[in-house]
Amino acid sequence: MRDEVDKVIKRIHELPTLPLVYKRVSDLLRNPYTSASDVAAVISEDQVITTKLLRLVNSAHYGFSEKVETITRAVSLVGMQAVKDLVLATSVMDLFHNNDEPGAWTVVEFWRHSLAVAVASSCIAEAVEDPHVEEYFVAGLIHDIGKIVWIEYFPDEFKDVLDIADSNRLPCIEAEKQRLGFTHVRAGRLLAKRWKLPERLIETIAWHHDPRLADKHPRFPALVHVADVIANAMHLGKSGNGCVPPLAPEAMEICGLSPSDVPHLLPKIHDAYQDSILMLSFWDASEKQEIEGDLSTV
Ligand SMILES: [Fe+2]
Ligand SMILES: [Fe+2]
Repeated sequence: MRDEVDKVIKRIHELPTLPLVYKRVSDLLRNPYTSASDVAAVISEDQVITTKLLRLVNSAHYGFSEKVETITRAVSLVGMQAVKDLVLATSVMDLFHNNDEPGAWTVVEFWRHSLAVAVASSCIAEAVEDPHVEEYFVAGLIHDIGKIVWIEYFPDEFKDVLDIADSNRLPCIEAEKQRLGFTHVRAGRLLAKRWKLPERLIETIAWHHDPRLADKHPRFPALVHVADVIANAMHLGKSGNGCVPPLAPEAMEICGLSPSDVPHLLPKIHDAYQDSILMLSFWDASEKQEIEGDLSTV
């Protein structure tokens, strides 16, 4: 098992780094005098990110009445911090979308689950009147990023993990402990640190299964934890779990959500998921049709 752990750590250091544009935007935002047009100028140099960002901002998720044609307009409408997070989201999704896939569990399923947790996180953030709705969206989107390490480098072992989880009705994380001796939250934390992500995202990735352990930004992992349980219970996408993962009792309290709020949230999450799923820009036309077909059964 020790050999496997060493192998995982070594492989994480071989994973791609984030595009330069993310680092440049992050650096700009550390300067309080940075303007929206400074940020827009840097993003506009990257044509791929520009196109995807505009597609994202024009999606139903935002619901702007006018078409957003320029990055400068997008930055002024969405805000600099939120745009930085969206650059991160599109960059991460771009890095991992067409790899070998273990068994029936596909990268598309993985991103569907991630998107479901993202929309559930933003719906919960709205319900508890937290002003950082977009930051929660991105935190939800990348919370399970450690599983990408399994898909990228350990597809056979991960297939075993999925089989163990499925046949024993276990959460994926428990099956990972049995088969790999290393969990996706540990792998994700290493990856997030290597990418120098903001601390709130590192804590989300590291503690979304055990939010009590977060010490700097406990609301992020707690809220994403609740969103993850809801997305699993609603069967939106597949996260590799053989059961709905248990809800940590303190998570609701940390994020300020009352149990009586949950029934009102479910239809909102369902609708937001339907509105958002087509915004994932990496699918080809046939996958898009397949997803549109699936939506009629959600
Ligand atoms: Fe997870
Ligand atoms: Fe998850």
